[in-house]
Amino acid sequence: MDRIRIRGGRPLSGEIVIGGAKNAALPLMAAAMLTEDRLVLSNVPRLADIQTMTALLAQHGLAIEAVGNDGRTISLGGPIRNTEAPYDIVRKMRASFLVLGPLLARAGEARVSLPGGCGIGARPIDLHLKGLEQLGARIVLEGGYIDARVDGRLRGASIVFPFVSVGATENLLMAASLADGRTVLANAAREPEIGDLAACLVAMGARIEGIGSDKLVVDGVDALHGAEHAIIPDRIETGSYACAAAISGGSVFLRHAHQDHLGATLRTLREAGVDIQEQPDGLMVQRLNGLHGTDAMTEPYPGFPTDMQAQFMALMAVAEGASMVTETIFENRFMHVPELNRMGARINVHGASAIVRGVPGLSGAPVMATDLRASLSLILAGLAAKGETMVNRVYHLDRGYEAVEQKLAACGADIERIAG
Ligand code: UD1
Repeated sequence: MDRIRIRGGRPLSGEIVIGGAKNAALPLMAAAMLTEDRLVLSNVPRLADIQTMTALLAQHGLAIEAVGNDGRTISLGGPIRNTEAPYDIVRKMRASFLVLGPLLARAGEARVSLPGGCGIGARPIDLHLKGLEQLGARIVLEGGYIDARVDGRLRGASIVFPFVSVGATENLLMAASLADGRTVLANAAREPEIGDLAACLVAMGARIEGIGSDKLVVDGVDALHGAEHAIIPDRIETGSYACAAAISGGSVFLRHAHQDHLGATLRTLREAGVDIQEQPDGLMVQRLNGLHGTDAMTEPYPGFPTDMQAQFMALMAVAEGASMVTETIFENRFMHVPELNRMGARINVHGASAIVRGVPGLSGAPVMATDLRASLSLILAGLAAKGETMVNRVYHLDRGYEAVEQKLAACGADIERIAG
């Protein structure tokens, strides 16, 4: 298993190009199953999760090909030949479950393995299933698989989510696009990745109103057609590298970063003393003075993202004063805390909150990455720490961050991947 070695203490300086958003790309790829025509997606990031989704869609029968030679544009299309999403793929990536809505809407049936839990919590899929049942699907659980069927087409319905779910909103939005009649999704998630999915569906001929709000109104159409769509920049990658610039005491230009999708993250970083300036085609991030303890609480968009919590906590570990970081989305998303503490951080967890008492410096240590965002928080800590940090189990990182070590090394970090 690969590891990443970092020798800390060098301020970053230079430019990092922000790629397309992983969490937008995955549902957009699944949306290709809603039409037999070709969907062409550009700005697709090169990530393990994208390969997993490619393998999943290919075994459903889709032809997926590279277009042009930028290595980031793909075309997807073709008939659905198999409606089963097997355990071997779904267990690797929960977002595989996003094929359920499109399969049901297009083929009238789907057999999708239950994803099971994951490192950051139990993560049930009840909202997805309940919503699809309201659209007329009959769903049974059998042998670890969700078996879903509908006679004829799905039928529009009024669905009120009891709480906000990104994945359930996406699954239902895709399914409703091909349903018979009107579907209203109330208390829908408003993440920018959902806006991106909706924009692409509209380009494919879907009729969706309320995009960007928590109430989506979808008038189902008989068929969708092909389209071309450019994926939005990754706001979590942007926030993560903004933390890297700040924790190293350097200055980095984040090319293609969008200020619009980063409201709460940028506000919180600025409050903590990070200087962020909008420039043409990106954001300039630097730490001019000291960092100070700042509280953050994760919430659905437009609140502070749970996917930024671990990285922000690494930053707060070396800020002056205390901060309280509260996690309201996932019940078990503090696994980075003991690892950060091994590097000299002073963090105590009390229920859903972590009290971080800033320390003047961290010291390098061997640490274990436990999930995608936790992995990046350990890399951040390594950039700030004195001595050598070895981050083990970096396969988590490869799921969602493209070429981390190259991007950071190009800005002067002493970081390398050790294969094995
Ligand atoms: C998506 C993101 C993930 C991010 C999360 C929250 C993708 C591929 N992944 O995950 O990076 O951390 O949003 O912003 O876009 N829940 C239920 N029942 C359900 C569905 C969800 O109880 O049927 C719970 C979850 O366990 C969690 C909360 O709702 O506590 C929010 O989860 P959700 O928004 O659905 O996250 P994902 O779509 O899985």
